[in-house]
Amino acid sequence: MDIFRDGICAGKVVFVAGGSSGINLAIGQRFAELGAKVGLISRKQDRVSAAAQTIVDAGGTAMGIEADVRDYAAVEAALAQVKQAYGEIDVVISGAAGNFLAPAVALSPNAFQTVIAIDLLGTFNVLRACYDHIRKPGASLISITAGQATRPVMFQAHAGAAKAGINNLTQGLAMEWGPAGIRVNAIAPGPIGDTEGMSRLAPSEEATAALKARIPLRDYGTKRDIADLAVFLSSENAKYITGAIIDCDGGSNLGDASADALAIPHADRRDA
Ligand code: NAP
Ligand code: COA
Repeated sequence: MDIFRDGICAGKVVFVAGGSSGINLAIGQRFAELGAKVGLISRKQDRVSAAAQTIVDAGGTAMGIEADVRDYAAVEAALAQVKQAYGEIDVVISGAAGNFLAPAVALSPNAFQTVIAIDLLGTFNVLRACYDHIRKPGASLISITAGQATRPVMFQAHAGAAKAGINNLTQGLAMEWGPAGIRVNAIAPGPIGDTEGMSRLAPSEEATAALKARIPLRDYGTKRDIADLAVFLSSENAKYITGAIIDCDGGSNLGDASADALAIPHADRRDA
């Protein structure tokens, strides 16, 4: 059952950075399905145009613009273009990211810097550049972070450091921009199925099964789970929520909930 009424996002304008695929595109698609007009940016015009077309094909309104989040001027121009076409921006999703599994000793300075530049500096660029293009009061800014920010994961030093920076930036901006009526939050997805992120972080069936066995809810989440949280966070019902980093992760960030983590014989447990 869907608790969101048809058309609840009608009249809203949504800007999604890193919106050509995966979780971020699903967020854009969901807002569009509920009536919003959506501007997507990514590094590649063909990918972001195809992404926007999926929304148009489904009966929605969207445009795809090539802009690398590492390029402040390009991001600014894209925001201005979306505002010009659709009006003041109500919701900004900052989700562009790059990630791969690599031990720290296999990271060159440029590898580390590349992930920081896309995830953390890119998020600053998106959030800073949107300030003059968003509805004040009323805008909802949401960054897509990750559990690695607060719970270190091996071979994720680069992504963990970048996402930790995003969490702190989210909270600092929530304090600075709250008086202007701007809410600034972040969503920390857990492992989400059918995404580039998980195909990189758990690239085999064995790795996927082992990971699922450690998640309290015992399965990956869906892109729709994250999209629905973004819709809620941007709604009137969430008007008193700012500076929050909200996990949507099946309990993953609580720790390892695998049966193997317990040194109790299987027969003594009712739940495993
Ligand atoms: P994805 O499909 O690869 O999404 C990443 C997006 O970022 C793509 O649209 C990519 O588009 C864009 N992008 C990359 N570099 C960019 C840049 N420099 N400028 C502009 N756009 C750029 O991956 P995903 O797994 O759905 O991840 C989406 C978000 O969720 C990320 O922030 C990720 O850290 C977060 N997350 C994912 C998971 C998961 O389970 N998948 C878990 C926790 C957090 P182009 O290639 O077209 O530029
Ligand atoms: N292990 C170690 N280093 C790696 C690596 C890996 N798996 N992949 C890339 N790097 C290094 C490169 O070698 C390079 O360092 P060097 O110049 O010292 O050799 C540096 O990272 C930058 O790589 P480059 O390919 O030039 O960067 P890019 O800006 O074109 O692409 C990436 C960015 C590397 C993050 C790329 O994986 C990407 O585009 N990702 C987007 C999609 C994605 O990651 N989705 C999941 C989101 S959670």
